[in-house]
Amino acid sequence: MEKENLYQAYQDRLHEAIRMDERACMQRRNGEGTKAAASFREAAALYADAARLMVELIDDCAAEELADYQKSVDRLIAVSRQMKDLAEEAERQASGKPRESQGRTPEGREKVPQREEGGEEPGFTPVTDGKEVRFEDIVGLEEAKQIVLDEIIHPITYAEIYREFKKSNGGGLLLFGPPGSGKTMLARAIANEAKLPFFSVKCSDIVGKYFGEAEKKTKALFDAVRAAGNAVVFLDEAEALACRRGGNSTVMNRLVPELLAQIDGFDKFEGHVIVMFATNRPYDIDPAFLRYGRLATLCYVPLPDYPVRLALIRKEMEGRPCQSDLDYGKIARETRNMSCADLVNLVNKSSLRPINRTIRHVEAGDKEWKDRITQQDMEDALGCMQVSVDQEEIRKMEQWMVKMHLKVPKHETGLEGGSAYAV
Ligand SMILES: Nc1ncnc2c1ncn2[C@@H]1O[C@H](COP(=O)(O)OP(=O)(O)OP(=O)(O)O)[C@@H](O)[C@H]1O
Ligand SMILES: [Mg+2]
Repeated sequence: MEKENLYQAYQDRLHEAIRMDERACMQRRNGEGTKAAASFREAAALYADAARLMVELIDDCAAEELADYQKSVDRLIAVSRQMKDLAEEAERQASGKPRESQGRTPEGREKVPQREEGGEEPGFTPVTDGKEVRFEDIVGLEEAKQIVLDEIIHPITYAEIYREFKKSNGGGLLLFGPPGSGKTMLARAIANEAKLPFFSVKCSDIVGKYFGEAEKKTKALFDAVRAAGNAVVFLDEAEALACRRGGNSTVMNRLVPELLAQIDGFDKFEGHVIVMFATNRPYDIDPAFLRYGRLATLCYVPLPDYPVRLALIRKEMEGRPCQSDLDYGKIARETRNMSCADLVNLVNKSSLRPINRTIRHVEAGDKEWKDRITQQDMEDALGCMQVSVDQEEIRKMEQWMVKMHLKVPKHETGLEGGSAYAV
């Protein structure tokens, strides 16, 4: 077979394997043990076949790619074996025999996850660093806040009213937007306003170097969430964890079905669990996460427009010694395309020169001297700043929003225009 055809055949086989694997997980969740066992066996055969095709591809690969290809083969074979184990486990369950695995007590109750010999304790606990963020700390983002109130906070605080109006809710939330626009801040505020424990996780907390580690940690995370009863689970940098399947990474190809299964598992859970993902690259998220009942609410966290920049600069300047004639409007006009994080940074940098001037005076013996931030300090700091947001990324994000039938923000034209949104 030609190399291209071979690669296509490999990709097709891997896709089939993942689909079958997902189906098997679904059947297992629905208690269809015999069907799940058959699907796991079929998935095992498909993964093994993908490994065989990958071996054929090795014949033609460049020397520097050899190690990666071999690793992929090893992983595919390991996944295939794991599928066989899962098939046996599903068969055992279907026949009513007790499980041999460590997951249950002799009475059949789920065991609290234990640290394995030599293994690392996954240990997911809610974040309690005292940095409580409230909604009013977040400048702007009015539309995002309203979506969050309607879909997340009010269904908890006014559950009775929602029930009366038969407003269905549930499912998670995808916060997407450029870096530094306030996604993490918003997620923290949600946890705080909803008065729920906040589990915050990044890709590096989940993906490890051992086979199966990522799935194990994902399970440990959601076990901890279920144990908490009510909670917010926040997956930051979600494009890394929930990326589209079908690539060469078998870790991700295994992790995504596990994550989907865990999120689906909250359907019948009696506690109140909110799953939130945040990303700068929503177009890289596997579309399966965006289906109804999963991350049903898509919430754009945009760059600040003029009024928001002005308000944020004012807020950040509050309480700092500054001259009374500062022209914040000018600074807000000149910081178009900057993120909120850039603006916070700008105000911080503006303080540095007056701090140094004050130190010089104090060192010269004038202990009472206190310098102030001047317009020049702010403009000099602005001159040294780089805009951290790539406009090309924003364009890609907007194209994705059009594809998803979401409202795309109107680009700022006038300098002091009102809303940044198209109607
Ligand atoms: N809307 C906002 N109001 C006030 N401060 C903000 C806002 N957005 C961002 N900030 C400031 O910028 C910092 C970084 O914001 P945050 O971490 O929430 O951004 P992010 O969108 O999660 O970025 P990334 O995509 O890089 O993770 C915050 O700690 C806060 O100081
Ligand atoms: Mg963030």
